[in-house]
Amino acid sequence: MTIISPSMLSADFSKLGEELKRITDAGADWAHLDVMDGMFVPNITFGPPVIKAIRRHSDIVFDAHLMIQDPARYIDAFADAGCDRITVHCEAEGDIHDAISKIRARGLVPGISINPETDVSMLEPYLPEVDMVLVMTVHPGFGGQSFIHECVPKISHVRAWCEENGRDLDISVDGGVNPETGRICVDAGANILVAGSSLFKLPDMGPTIAEWKGYGRN
Ligand code: DX5
Ligand code: ZN
Repeated sequence: MTIISPSMLSADFSKLGEELKRITDAGADWAHLDVMDGMFVPNITFGPPVIKAIRRHSDIVFDAHLMIQDPARYIDAFADAGCDRITVHCEAEGDIHDAISKIRARGLVPGISINPETDVSMLEPYLPEVDMVLVMTVHPGFGGQSFIHECVPKISHVRAWCEENGRDLDISVDGGVNPETGRICVDAGANILVAGSSLFKLPDMGPTIAEWKGYGRN
């Protein structure tokens, strides 16, 4: 089954607790939390205090996507706030190997993410150390952008690397995911779909989540 991780970036920030309940009731597997620092990306969202506050409202898996420079500085803070999975960017400043090992040391699941303009070879030093790859299919920073089809071969590349190396990494796709582009990603080897605007615009996202979960089996 494909794992569905709605991006809370498209939720109503004035009622995040209720929005978490909304995605959970709709059948979402994880909640994708987009953390932006205004440096790595030209936007600022939220950090550990907000995540800690919403943690009390839900038991859903917190899938944090850190679009921040030098992420190793903040791994303990995000772990203390209640994140279950933490993904950092291969393009971020600082020691990314150190960030990954800090995530692992806290008992959380580490992931590595790659921007659309970055060559897939930039991932390779990190693949043996992580459990998930997050392929960005828009330029990070904002929801509601159009899917960049040129990023799809990165999904197949990582899936091929897994087969060659006997690893079973999760491959997640983030940006511009809708029913059509989501299917393209799963066909290319992704098993996790992150989606913000295409899900949150629906009055009832349940049927769409149920349909996406079946991708890869039909
Ligand atoms: C963008 C974020 C995404 C974003 C996706 O920087 O990483 O998670 O919320 O939004 P949509 O699905 O609207 O492209
Ligand atoms: Zn994201």
